[in-house]
Amino acid sequence: MTVDTATLLEIFDAALEADYTRVRRVGNRVARALAESGDAAGAKALQAALKQRAIPLQASGYAEALPRDAGSRLPLVEEGQWPTTPAFLNEQSGKTVARFLEDAANIDLLAREGVATRLGLLMHGPPGSGKSLLAGHIAARLQRPFYIVRLDSMISSRLGETAKNIRGVFEFIPQRNAVLFLDEMDAIAKVRDDRHELGELKRVVNTVLQGLDSLSDDVVVVGATNHAHLLDPAIWRRFPYKLALDMPEEDVRREMWARFLYGDATGPDLEVALLSRLSAGLSGADIENIALGARRRAILDGAPLALAQVFNAVTLSRPGAPELVHDGDLSAEEKKRLAARLRDSGEMTVTDIAKLLGVSRQMAHRYLGSQEPTDAR
Ligand SMILES: Nc1ncnc2c1ncn2[C@@H]1O[C@H](COP(=O)(O)OP(=O)(O)OP(=O)(O)O)[C@@H](O)[C@H]1O
Ligand SMILES: [Mg+2]
Repeated sequence: MTVDTATLLEIFDAALEADYTRVRRVGNRVARALAESGDAAGAKALQAALKQRAIPLQASGYAEALPRDAGSRLPLVEEGQWPTTPAFLNEQSGKTVARFLEDAANIDLLAREGVATRLGLLMHGPPGSGKSLLAGHIAARLQRPFYIVRLDSMISSRLGETAKNIRGVFEFIPQRNAVLFLDEMDAIAKVRDDRHELGELKRVVNTVLQGLDSLSDDVVVVGATNHAHLLDPAIWRRFPYKLALDMPEEDVRREMWARFLYGDATGPDLEVALLSRLSAGLSGADIENIALGARRRAILDGAPLALAQVFNAVTLSRPGAPELVHDGDLSAEEKKRLAARLRDSGEMTVTDIAKLLGVSRQMAHRYLGSQEPTDAR
């Protein structure tokens, strides 16, 4: 069978406009013509190709007809981008992710051998620990489009609407070749509040379970929650792979400081080591915020990186509340506080502290309320 020029033009036109609906429609037409001309194998191959999900093309302005909440008209599914920044994980988490990716990539073989499991990965951990970032990486590594569903945005105050929204999402999600990211999963448990009639929680949980069960085995589902204990055990069971992400350990923080503050994989040893020790308890997002804030100041002020300011910000930050580097120099008061904090950390000599603060050793001693030893080194 030969395809006529008009059809070819239509295919190219639709493809260049990234109008996938039209590409599929013309494709289906050609497949039928192929079948009619006796090329059953060709028709089948083309149909299989058309069933594939198209690669995300948000930048082209193309937006798929996403399911929306009936009341607010807000989309319930968002097409996410593949991340361009690395995710830093400890060894154990890295292994879990690698195992999951390997199983997902070989799901056909595992299914043939009868040892396949659902490709469901549940990530739990505090805010800013990289759950959303990692979900995007999983989609990228599997070269699949990335669909993000925020369960909190699906909870509607209108009776019965929540379950309808959830059904709409699972009907929209393609049966193959996508990574479905269910974010904020604990939101389901919050249906238990007084806006909802009794029994709605059960209905919502059941709708999610049915939705998960309706997906074909090769759909990759990644769930994330900050409150794992709030999740219904039946939902928990739908995710055979679990990943506990916590605040980063010292060696992971070291990679983060090097990358976020210095933009490379190592950074200057001493500074990076000190920063990673002092930033215990902070999340990846906190470290990124402080570091990028300092780099922004350096660029806009046309000045070198204000390292004393970074140390100051780190010692003042609390998890989820990173302190930002401010304009100008540290005040005498701030220098005094920071000097004491650095001395108490036991990591730095007075000489180091003086150097970091850009003051003389005598001045550093004065800040610390200590006497400069007469046999000063
Ligand atoms: N482990 C990490 N490796 C690299 N970057 C990280 C890591 N953790 C956090 N970040 C940085 O912090 C940003 C925010 O992290 P992310 O949104 O993935 O956290 P989250 O766990 O999804 O938080 P939330 O529970 O608030 O949704 C990331 O985009 C990334 O820039
Ligand atoms: Mg997130």
